[in-house]
Amino acid sequence: KKIKAFRTQLLDWYDANKRDLPWRQTKNPYYIWVSEIMLQQTQVNTVIPYYERFIKELPTIKDLAEVEESELMGLWQGLGYYSRVRNMQFAAQQVMADFNGEMPNTLEGLLSLKGIGPYTAGAIGSIAFNLPEPALDGNLMRIVARLFEIDRDITLNKTKNEFTGILYQLIDPERPGDFNQALMDIGATIMTPTNYQPEDSPIKEFDQSYQNNTSHLYPVKKKK
Ligand code: ADE
Repeated sequence: KKIKAFRTQLLDWYDANKRDLPWRQTKNPYYIWVSEIMLQQTQVNTVIPYYERFIKELPTIKDLAEVEESELMGLWQGLGYYSRVRNMQFAAQQVMADFNGEMPNTLEGLLSLKGIGPYTAGAIGSIAFNLPEPALDGNLMRIVARLFEIDRDITLNKTKNEFTGILYQLIDPERPGDFNQALMDIGATIMTPTNYQPEDSPIKEFDQSYQNNTSHLYPVKKKK
C-alpha cells in the first residue's frame, strides 16, 4: 500500500516536473547507452551538446564499432576520461560480434559488455527495455539512506547490495526507467549532497529522515 503510494507520487511528480533532456526523447538503447556513459563523470549541461553531436555523427552501433580512433577521440574531446569511449567502442564491436548488432535486452547481456557495470546496465535496461532493474548511483544511495535512516557505510559493497535490494522492492514494475530517472532528478535538484529542499520533494512523507529532522546525518560515508 505504502509502496504503491510512493510510486504514484514519485511518477506523478516526474510527469509534471521531469527535466527535458534529449535522451529522454528516445527509447533507442544505443542512444541511452551513449547518454549514460557520458553522464557517469560529466554534468548534464555539459553532456547535452556532446550527446547530440555523437549520435548525429555515429547514429548506429555499427558506426561506433567501425569509426576511426582519431574521429572518435574528436567527438569526446573535452569530456575527459577517455577510457569511457574506448571501452564503448570495444563494446560496440562486441555487440556486432556477439549480438548481431543489436543491443542485448537482458541484464546479463548488458553486463557482458566492456564498460557496462551494474549501474549502467540497470539504467539502460530500465530505460530502454523496461526491465525492473534499479540504477544505484551516489544520488540514489543518498536518497535511500535518508528515506530509511540507514546509517551503514555507503562505500561498502554489502551496503550497496542492501540498498539495491530495497530498490528492487520499491521500483515500479510498469515504469522502471521513469522511476529510476525520477529519483535521479530528485537527487540532482531537490536533494543534492549540500542542499535539501524537502518541502519540494514528492516523497517527503515517506522520508524518515525528513520526519525526524535527521537528513544531515545521511548518507554515512567512512573515510578510507
Ligand atoms: N544521470 C545519469 N543518468 C541520467 C539520466 N538518465 N537522466 C538524468 N540524469 C542522469
